[in-house]
Amino acid sequence: MASLGRTTLRTHRCGELRATHAGERVTLGGWVHRRRDLGGLIFVDLRDREGLVQVAFGPDAASPEVLRLAGGLTPETVVIVEGEVKRRPAGQANPEMPTGEVEVRAATLRVVGPAEVPVIPVARGKGETMANEDLRLRHRHLDLRRPELYRNLELRHRLLQRTRATLSAQGFLELETPILTKPTPEGARDYLVPSRVYPGEFFALPQSPQIYKQLLMVSGYDRYFQLARCFRDEDLRADRQPEFTQIDIEASFIGPEDIYAVTEAVLVALWAEAGEAVTAPFPRMPWREAMERFGVDKPDLRFGLELQDLSARIGEGSGEFLRAAVGRGERIHALVAPGGAALSRKDLDALTEDAKTMRASGLLWAKRGPDGVTGPGAKALGPLALEALQLAEGDLVLGVAGTDAVALPALGRVRLETIRRLGLAARTKHAFVWIEQFPLFERDPDTGQFAPMHHPFTAPHPDDLGLLGTAPERARSTHYDSVYNGTELGSGSIRIVDPALQQRVFDWLGIVPAEAERRFGFLLEGLKAGAPPHGGIALGFDRIAMLLAGVDSIRDVIAFPKTAQARALFEGAPTVVPQADLDVLHLKVVP
Ligand code: AMO
Repeated sequence: MASLGRTTLRTHRCGELRATHAGERVTLGGWVHRRRDLGGLIFVDLRDREGLVQVAFGPDAASPEVLRLAGGLTPETVVIVEGEVKRRPAGQANPEMPTGEVEVRAATLRVVGPAEVPVIPVARGKGETMANEDLRLRHRHLDLRRPELYRNLELRHRLLQRTRATLSAQGFLELETPILTKPTPEGARDYLVPSRVYPGEFFALPQSPQIYKQLLMVSGYDRYFQLARCFRDEDLRADRQPEFTQIDIEASFIGPEDIYAVTEAVLVALWAEAGEAVTAPFPRMPWREAMERFGVDKPDLRFGLELQDLSARIGEGSGEFLRAAVGRGERIHALVAPGGAALSRKDLDALTEDAKTMRASGLLWAKRGPDGVTGPGAKALGPLALEALQLAEGDLVLGVAGTDAVALPALGRVRLETIRRLGLAARTKHAFVWIEQFPLFERDPDTGQFAPMHHPFTAPHPDDLGLLGTAPERARSTHYDSVYNGTELGSGSIRIVDPALQQRVFDWLGIVPAEAERRFGFLLEGLKAGAPPHGGIALGFDRIAMLLAGVDSIRDVIAFPKTAQARALFEGAPTVVPQADLDVLHLKVVP
């Protein structure tokens, strides 16, 4: 089969040569990775996106002029060489290189792209560390030459194609929605684009295609998907980018189970593309249960260490502080870490700090050693609670008292940190789960104002419609999250289709009709025009690619990412623009 790398200038890619090519004359183009001069022989490792191959320049095949040129090759110079593929002599094969059984005996050499001394090294010796990330992002064109990034971005490409194939095969249409648009609320700030033509007016870059995909449902495009670029001006975290890609899906005449099935088909296919066999359906868990058992709405089910409610066991013989907490209607939750008694005082102090950063007042702990249960928590919990825990020797119990809103997330964080500190082995490699029945609203702890737990188009749970008039804070929604090994892969919901209900939800959120009309009028108009029941999901594509590439940073699966401080270092953006350019846009920067 002809090489996929074949062009008018080359016959093969460097990294694809194998023993089966021995005897062929090939022309390669690539970057000088390393050069070694051994007496009369010059060896160059030539690199392209497919990998490295050794090119040997010797007097047997090359002219003195070619030898002179080869002897002066510097790293990252682009060359075209032509020669014969030879098996390496016995004992000289390099089992660490896929091309290690062969080398190319070069006859001709052309320097086609001279290179300055690279600011950051592309070729690294064993044990040599990489340049720091800011420097690498500043010189991303060099950083992108690293074999790891070739591999990650090639995987990203395959995952994109597999997504398209899987959804297309199920009748989903890939439809594009605008980038210059009106603000779509997803809980972050918008990036705004000033209009030159209409002074003082702005487009927003979409935080998601949410409203457009709902309008497509209104218009009858009953299965839509898009590999959608989204823009969010938010406080950045390690696994977030201001600009990122979603696998965005919406469908009509469906319920949650239909969306689960489509999503599972996509995820199973993507994991298979990365060589991982996983099976669907994934388990489902109500949000309340996830919070009670794991203290978080994205539980990592690879591990046990579940939370237990000890409140009913606090009483006679328990510490005053815990009895008072229970008296106030708070609860006492605890988890048992097998082998946790081995943790040092320093570990326990660090875990206490973790609980406190989650607003807990403290962390109780007790250990069961050979002489019984010791530690400050032993007395505080009291005999009844300790009995319920059934501690074995070597166990550590960790507990938090407080309101559920504080104590459960705090202990959830402590659970993960405990697992990490103990280096506990996962029970399984892949733990997918659907979290469902989220609360419809959450209250802003500062203002007391209702806010949608997700976006305001999420339909209430059909069983809780009655609560909307009486106790909306207790109403559940149709929102669901896809969670994998403690990471949220994506989220979605069934949408509100009744314009009157949509208006009522806006009312609860304090969005008055005039404002609703201004911000979402085009959606409300659509809902009044005959809207089918519909819903969907968006999966964080970069996050999925990161997990499947086995890397820690989302930036390692994006060709030109922003830094954690939302800067594009390579391009040098954002940037100051001349006042003349601002004048055209009718803008003035006020210091
Ligand atoms: P949501 O806001 O939950 O839902 O986003 C869906 C998924 O997108 C990913 N994600 C991000 N990835 C990288 N960087 C970011 N800044 C970032 N923000 C979000 C996450 C997340 O789970 N329109 C709704 C979906 C729907 O209801 O159909 C939405 O956007 O993996």
